[in-house]
Amino acid sequence: MSYHTEYQAACQQPEQFWADKASKLAWYKKPQQILQTDGEQYQWFADGELNTAYLALDYHVEQGRGGQTALIYDSPVTGSRQQFSYQQLTNEVALFAGVLKAHGVMKGDRVIIYMPMIPQAVIAMLAVARLGAVHSVVFGGFAAHELAVRIDDASPKVIVSASCGIEINRLIAYKPLLDNALTMAKHQPDSCIIWQRPQLLADLTTGRDYDWQQLLQTAEPAACVTVKSTDPLYILYTSGTTGKPKGVVRDNGGHAVALHYSMQAIYGMQPGEVFWAASDVGWVVGHSYIVYGPLLAGCTSVLYEGKPVYTPDAGAFWRVCADYKVKALFAAPTAFRAIRKEDPDATLLQHYDLSALERIYMAGERLDPATYDWTVLHSNKPVVDHWWQTETGWAICANPAGIELLPTKAGSATVPVPGYQVAILDHNGQAMAANQQGNIAIKLPLPPGCLTTIWQSPERYNSGYLRQFPGYYASGDGGYIDDDGYLFVMGRTDDVINVAGHRLSTGEMEEIVASHPAVAECCVIGLADALKGQQPVGFVLLKNGIDITEAQLQADLVQLVREQIGALACFKVALIVPRLPKTRSGKILRKLLRQIADGEEYIVPSTIDDPASLNEIAGCMAKRGLISL
Ligand code: COA
Ligand code: AMP
Repeated sequence: MSYHTEYQAACQQPEQFWADKASKLAWYKKPQQILQTDGEQYQWFADGELNTAYLALDYHVEQGRGGQTALIYDSPVTGSRQQFSYQQLTNEVALFAGVLKAHGVMKGDRVIIYMPMIPQAVIAMLAVARLGAVHSVVFGGFAAHELAVRIDDASPKVIVSASCGIEINRLIAYKPLLDNALTMAKHQPDSCIIWQRPQLLADLTTGRDYDWQQLLQTAEPAACVTVKSTDPLYILYTSGTTGKPKGVVRDNGGHAVALHYSMQAIYGMQPGEVFWAASDVGWVVGHSYIVYGPLLAGCTSVLYEGKPVYTPDAGAFWRVCADYKVKALFAAPTAFRAIRKEDPDATLLQHYDLSALERIYMAGERLDPATYDWTVLHSNKPVVDHWWQTETGWAICANPAGIELLPTKAGSATVPVPGYQVAILDHNGQAMAANQQGNIAIKLPLPPGCLTTIWQSPERYNSGYLRQFPGYYASGDGGYIDDDGYLFVMGRTDDVINVAGHRLSTGEMEEIVASHPAVAECCVIGLADALKGQQPVGFVLLKNGIDITEAQLQADLVQLVREQIGALACFKVALIVPRLPKTRSGKILRKLLRQIADGEEYIVPSTIDDPASLNEIAGCMAKRGLISL
């Protein structure tokens, strides 16, 4: 089958196309209604019934694959490795589901999971899904405040966590962060279940906190609970333009169908083959391609607790690929930039047999041509850039290797995946010609697997994604489509930035910076960074009469952002400026600031209030070595 035929089938007969993909799953009740709409919202497979954990685990055992490895845990930071067969993982998940059930978790209840990259994180997610409950995984690098915001929004019955995470050789105590978050949060869970790691034992609060291993001793396995296709499987918070993160809601049925299809169509994976997404279960890539995608497809998934470099060296990725005969590796470009920096000639790669590795996939941020070229040159494998978002849950544009591997173009995420109709629109919603840069939008309906709403905020879903261009989903990314139909994603059109593959809100950082008593006004922008893609930089206008040095203010602000968001924000630079460039209506010219700092050409807008402020700002940047004048 050619890509063109498959793509046209999905465009022209979407219901038939997706009914066919859905028929490959073992539903408890097969859907008859494929796509429904009330004019604005769409529902996939509304009358279908299933259980996602059953499809990911028990089903494969029933098919005789119980002995096959489902999950490989490889942890250079603890020096340990562990493998779980489908039968073992099913048993572990059923037993922990029993623990959750005994703690009152029922269909529809929320469970927050705040865990490092250990098998128990995967077990907890699948156990929640087994009960028809809704998990919300919070990335372990987030600070207590971020966790508290998510606790209040998701109102979980139970929180599952671990005593610590390990960052290369540094222990991160999770339990004090959780305790702090619970002090800040208005909502309190009935209980917290803690996996005690031998590297650091956590203090437990009697009556609220429970030791996971102790609870297992008296647990009874729980059966899979039937849910409707449209019932939520999980909530995953992601950064928007304001300080309040958005809880992306994923359904059960559309998600299972889309991920199952993607494993074959995009990644070319067959049951029994090994897939490795070098991400974190706290991000959408981890949800879709460490946990659900590979298991729904009957593959073996690798869970890696380590970094691309320093654990112990820049050969770590190649070592894991060789050790487990990984067929497809998926990571963020920043990881390869880190490897290239440490090992520019890829000498470490020569130590490993990469014959099983067929393709390398990258996403999460723009794949710059230099990183693409380096990876292709040294690995001698096809490198597939693909574009997607937390909201979509799977790739919007990719090189669909399982259907037809198309010629690649450096800097392009290739073509729309069957099911997505991608358009470039101008600000009035008019389609733009080939090669013209505009807003990337997706024609409704979105295919199965994409967000169904924003948790507790359906209005935010409508206003944030559907209203800007009626009939389309507004992606928030800008870019163009070339004459061959290839998409080039050039970056966000809003105040979201991407730091080391982590999506962050500059609006949120501005709220934190503005809370400092010395700050009158501020703006935070993402500047280009050779390793992490972007790095946030703050520009601060002091209140009158305040006496503080730039070094002291910067130290305070760095600490504040670390405390409120977490170290992953990488907020390290703050400049005191005499004025911020603004329009006459008072809007800060953020894009202009970024262009000056990144050395891009820019046009001074006619609406600028005081053009002299630009020279002052450039002077401040030069003084700090951000630019040379
Ligand atoms: N728990 C606690 N802290 C964490 C954390 C976690 N899970 N993840 C990151 N951090 C901390 C780091 O320890 C570091 O803290 P520090 O400032 O005190 O040193 C800070 O957050 C920044 O971390 P990171 O962005 O990982 O930078 P780094 O310099 O340590 O490593 C890379 C650079 C490129 C190796 C790393 O960013 C990386 O592997 N990126 C890939 C990201 C990825 O896979 N994203 C998923 C999208 S698909
Ligand atoms: P997240 O929701 O964290 O996955 O981040 C999604 C955002 O990351 C997108 O909106 C893009 O801005 C960016 N992104 C993801 N993949 C790519 C890609 N392949 N090329 C360019 N940008 C990407």
